[in-house]
Amino acid sequence: MSAIIIDGKATAKAIRHALKAEIAELGLTPGLTTVLVGDDPASEVYVRSKGKIAKRLGFKSESIRLPAKTSQPELVEYIQRLNADKTVHGILVQLPLPAHIDEQVIIETIDPQKDVDGFHPYNVGRLSIGVPTFIPCTPLGVQKLLEAYNLDPFGKHVVIVGRSNIVGKPQALIFVQKAAWANATVTICHSRTQNIAEITRQADILVAAIGQANFITADMVKEGVIAIDVGVNRWEDGTLCGDIDFKGVAEKAYAITPVPGGVGPMTIAMLMYNTVQAAKLYR
Ligand code: GUN
Repeated sequence: MSAIIIDGKATAKAIRHALKAEIAELGLTPGLTTVLVGDDPASEVYVRSKGKIAKRLGFKSESIRLPAKTSQPELVEYIQRLNADKTVHGILVQLPLPAHIDEQVIIETIDPQKDVDGFHPYNVGRLSIGVPTFIPCTPLGVQKLLEAYNLDPFGKHVVIVGRSNIVGKPQALIFVQKAAWANATVTICHSRTQNIAEITRQADILVAAIGQANFITADMVKEGVIAIDVGVNRWEDGTLCGDIDFKGVAEKAYAITPVPGGVGPMTIAMLMYNTVQAAKLYR
């Protein structure tokens, strides 16, 4: 049996289409400002595509580029200005930041009402409790992908490989909630987990977000797994690959996301979704 290939590109397109209708009803222009410090090439690509899609949806979209030598107080001041700007509903500071800047200080400077990444401790706390809040875009995109394919995590064992604040931890918080498209039993594995394959083989739904090319091989999954690949790794020749060995795992999986074209487009669609929600707070 061949696996269902989960099409994130098409799903993201449908979500953007629905958002357009929501924006038309809103009666104001959502404003999204992205801030990129330094010139990390991967971050540049991400920020550019975020800006492009925001513009296509009719947002007021601004991308601020600051030199790598920008000091922490300078960046804090920039963000405070954006916090005070009524035309800016969402602020996204692209991570990672240069080593001389404390990421947590920057995240906590962003007004929680404009924190469309959902990284501020206020929003992380609200997610943990299970009340409405901004939810980090990538793990929210994973949940929406499952929903789009009617793959309900209810009662299933979701195994997450990776414990980052951007994906692994919020992914666990999302799926453990007593809520629609959640109610799962959740395990988080990471680089220090012993006998990791024994745990990943128990997964009904496996979310790989560890940042190592082809880390999850066919012997690490069970027959019929739903395999979600959050990894974006680049080979020396520039081609992309995920954290899951697609070819091998697809032979055992019920459904699997490709890289590219799986989770990636959903992340950006969720950023647009969060920005529209942020704009609604200002109505
Ligand atoms: N770097 C990698 N992923 C993300 C993300 O979702 N948001 C931000 N701000 N930076 C990132």
